Amino acid sequence: MIITLVLLFLFGGFLPLQAAQADFGARLFGKFQAKACTQCHDFFETNPPGLLAASHKGRSPRTCVTCHTSKVTGFTHADDWFARPGLYTSAMSSTTVCETIKNDMHAQFKNESLSAREMEKHLLEDPRVLWAIESATSNSGRLPGGKTETGLVAGGLAQWKKDVREWIKGGMSCQ
Ligand code: HEC
Ligand code: HEC
Repeated sequence: MIITLVLLFLFGGFLPLQAAQADFGARLFGKFQAKACTQCHDFFETNPPGLLAASHKGRSPRTCVTCHTSKVTGFTHADDWFARPGLYTSAMSSTTVCETIKNDMHAQFKNESLSAREMEKHLLEDPRVLWAIESATSNSGRLPGGKTETGLVAGGLAQWKKDVREWIKGGMSCQ
């Protein structure tokens, strides 16, 4: 009886905890909502105060690199700095963000192993993503005109990698 109770306690508590840790909601949603990510993802959907209204409205994509230069962003190719509509945005719930990014990467048409590789590559190597993570590069958060985005993904690159890998290893669940 006691052994059964102990086992129940150990495994009954342990399994849901493991599942929760691999969750998108528990591990990644908060980080995806860092301003450094959403200011750019929301670019065409909303008017973040002081950004579009002040000076960005109607700017051609060709002009981004004149201010967001490689010197500012640290990108090998300055033109990797761009915004696009139809991405996950700050207005979405955790589940919707998770489903949206998988849909955008056409995960439903691919073998899970290919989707997993692509997701990992994007989240761990994309220069825009690294720019938004605290101390991931020496230029993370740097903006033109000597400004800095302060709402970076907290915890640094090692924690980010761990969270991303756990989520992908757990099957990229959107729970
Ligand atoms: C400078 C703007 C910018 C920043 C900063 C940025 N992104 Fe993106 N993101 C984009 C663009 C543009 C695309 C689409 C890329 C393409 O079409 O090739 C994209 C695509 C994505 C995708 C795949 C599709 C989708 O629906 O979202 C994910 C996932 C993603 N970004 C996550 C993030 C995360 C997480 C951060 C912050 C850690 C971030 N991005 C920071 C501009 C940005
Ligand atoms: C004339 C210079 C200039 C051009 C051109 C320009 N930007 Fe900016 N951008 C800035 C400055 C300066 C800031 C910092 C604004 C602030 O916080 O006061 C900024 C901030 C941003 C931010 C906010 C980042 C954050 O997380 O705080 C995004 C996103 C952005 N720009 C995207 C773009 C895109 C996309 C283009 C091209 C369509 C573009 N910018 C063209 C000067 C420029």
